[in-house]
Amino acid sequence: MTKPKPADRSVAGRKLDHLRAVLEDPDVERGRSGFDTISLTHRALPELDLDAVDTSTRFLDKPLSFPLLISSMTGGTGDEIARINRNLAEAAEATGVAMSVGSQRVLFTDPASKGSFQLRDAAPSIPLIGNIGAVQLNAGLNAGHCLQAVQALEADGLYLHLNPLQEAVQVEGDRDFSNLSGKISDLVSNMPVPVLIKEVGAGLSSSDVELAYAAGIRHFDVAGRGGTSWSRIEYHRRADEEDDLGLVFQDWGLTTVESLLETRDVLVKKTDPTTLIASGGLRDGVDMAKSIILGADLCGMAAPFLAAAQESSAQVIRQIEKLRREFQTAMFLLGCADVSQLNANVSLIRSRSKFW
Ligand SMILES: Cc1cc2nc3c(=O)[nH]c(=O)nc-3n(C[C@H](O)[C@H](O)[C@H](O)COP(=O)(O)O)c2cc1C
Repeated sequence: MTKPKPADRSVAGRKLDHLRAVLEDPDVERGRSGFDTISLTHRALPELDLDAVDTSTRFLDKPLSFPLLISSMTGGTGDEIARINRNLAEAAEATGVAMSVGSQRVLFTDPASKGSFQLRDAAPSIPLIGNIGAVQLNAGLNAGHCLQAVQALEADGLYLHLNPLQEAVQVEGDRDFSNLSGKISDLVSNMPVPVLIKEVGAGLSSSDVELAYAAGIRHFDVAGRGGTSWSRIEYHRRADEEDDLGLVFQDWGLTTVESLLETRDVLVKKTDPTTLIASGGLRDGVDMAKSIILGADLCGMAAPFLAAAQESSAQVIRQIEKLRREFQTAMFLLGCADVSQLNANVSLIRSRSKFW
């Protein structure tokens, strides 16, 4: 594996470095999110008509055709980035799934990036979610900036991403994560839309979920280990050949299954309604079904859509329809007529390996 050119240090250029690393290094995809440790009970007599199996659900008060979210990826300057977001938005609208955009911090360093986040005309009816790094609340951004991000997208919610591993490895990373939960709490009370938290591939632990719940967060996206490794992506942007910090930490974190179980165990004891989102290495409709069985309300995927989104919205639509067929087939073979029969129904699990 060779290291590419030195990192582009501008916020907008960094995005292109990231896209290149995901598309060019197959080992950025780490595998082993934990789904292969779970087997489900097949029903030979499901007593259902496959075509009548109802995959629909709701998220942020809007209907979805099935519980899928296109996870946060991009936004910024240049035609390539704008095209990716538009293709994703058109496909999400055509198929009735949710979409979140990549970090909107670039709005405040490169105002020309705003167009890449103006997606409401392409996606008038689906949940759209904005995105800002929580650590930016310690680096000059405040509730006013977050509101601008929400308004640019006409968003139904705002993701705050928690990415201490990525920032630790990133050449120009922001590493001051001190006293963030208080700032998150202030932000939650000042936002007109729900604030959601997500990791970016290393998972949320129970202590994180407790802190964030106390700060007023009610939507939790685990974004666990096993899919895209941000430590490895940032490794490619560190110029020194000898510097392997990003490789040492490329498999750091909680797997998606571990994080889902841990997060669910905290949330079931809470009185307020909460939403649990599974992401990090989900790759097919069976992973989605397993996630819903483990208590998730929604399933996110990022990297699997990137190459298709560079091509066309039609390619993304094909991919989403394939996922929906897989998810519906899994429900049929488990004897579940609708998503409520799948959700947190651990009796559908036949066996699980010891590690969890
Ligand atoms: C190309 C790319 C760019 C991403 N950019 C962001 C981002 O700006 N903000 C964010 O919260 N997560 C970002 N992510 C992380 C994803 O939203 C997701 O949490 C993570 O990739 C795990 O999902 P996956 O294994 O399906 O890719 C990005 C992922 C990819 C592949």
